[in-house]
Parts: sequence; C-alpha cells; structure tokens
Amino acid sequence: IKDDRIHRITSAIRVIPDFPKPGILFQDITTLLLDPVAFKDTIDLFVERYKDKGITVVAGVEARGFIFGPPIALAIGAKFVPMRKPNKLPGAVISEEYSLEYGTDKIEMHVGAVEPGDRALVIDDLIATGGTLCAAISLLERVGAHVVECACVIELPELKGRDRLGGKPLFVLVSS
Ligand code: PRP
Repeated sequence: IKDDRIHRITSAIRVIPDFPKPGILFQDITTLLLDPVAFKDTIDLFVERYKDKGITVVAGVEARGFIFGPPIALAIGAKFVPMRKPNKLPGAVISEEYSLEYGTDKIEMHVGAVEPGDRALVIDDLIATGGTLCAAISLLERVGAHVVECACVIELPELKGRDRLGGKPLFVLVSS
C-alpha cells in the first residue's frame, strides 16, 4: 500500500528484542496507541477497506484484537464479538483448540453472538504462525458465519501464518 499513513504506523510500533523469551523480537503496539494520529490512521485504513463490504460482525481476538476491533465495528456499523481465552466468558460458549509451539491453547465465543448468515471480519494485532486466526475462522464457520477476511496490523511473513488460513484472505498494514 502506497500510503504515508503506513510509514507513520510502522514508525510508531516499538520492537523489543528478547521478549517474552530470548530470540523473540516483540512487536509492541502499545506505542502505536500513544500516537493518536497513527492510531487513527490504523483504524481509518481498516474502515476504508471494510465499510462497503456488508460486514455484520467484527470478531476481535483477545487481547489486542479488543483494541482495534471495536472502533472499526462502530465505524462500519457492525456488532463486535470478543473471542476470549478459556473460562472468561460467563455464558454458554463454543470453543476451538489450536496448537502452539509446545502444547495447545483455546479461544471461546458466546453462543448466539454470531448467527448463520453473518458476514465476519476477524481482527487481531498480529499474525505469527496463524494458529489463532485459524481457530477464530473455524469458530465463526462452525456457527454458520461467512468469514469475509482476516485483518491484522502486523504480519511476520517468515512464519508463513498466511498459509494456515485455508485460503481465507488476509489483509495486513505492516509486514515485518
Ligand atoms: C499474540 C497476538 C496474536 C497471536 C498471534 O497474542 O496478539 O493474538 O499471538 O500468534 P499466532 O499467529 O502464532 O497464533 P498472545 O498469544 O501474545 O496473547 P495476548 O494477546 O492475550 O497477550
């Protein structure tokens, strides 16, 4: 994307070496949130892309999908649905397990929050291995939604997470 806004967003993301483990280069979006212009640019770029796509639900993945998802949902007139870590949601849930480097993790969504025929956009801050987004897509499809696209602020392309999304389109602002 040829857009000045992308440069502002890229510069506002802080990269911290060896967090949370040695060898990991952590992409810290909290510094993007400290820059109201860059944060607004981020939301605007997503809103411009999704405002006319008939999206009825924005599904945000815990935790940082909860930061970017709601302003997009409000701007495009869609509902926001949180996809949470296990045992956080009080109502009946459906859950999807996914594999990590060692072991598994799980995300959950309230039953009834998303209905058959809903058109979904999945939002997170970052795609690494793609396991989280893949689980989010499955949850939405299991309840009969159509996943239009996944969107992240940052992609780590060397981890090839994109290939794990079963052909679903992925839109990212920054590729590092
Ligand atoms: C990070 C990131 C994504 C996920 C991407 O979340 O915010 O949700 O990892 O990794 P993947 O593509 O390999 O699945 P994290 O697990 O750090 O959880 P948190 O946002 O709750 O801290």
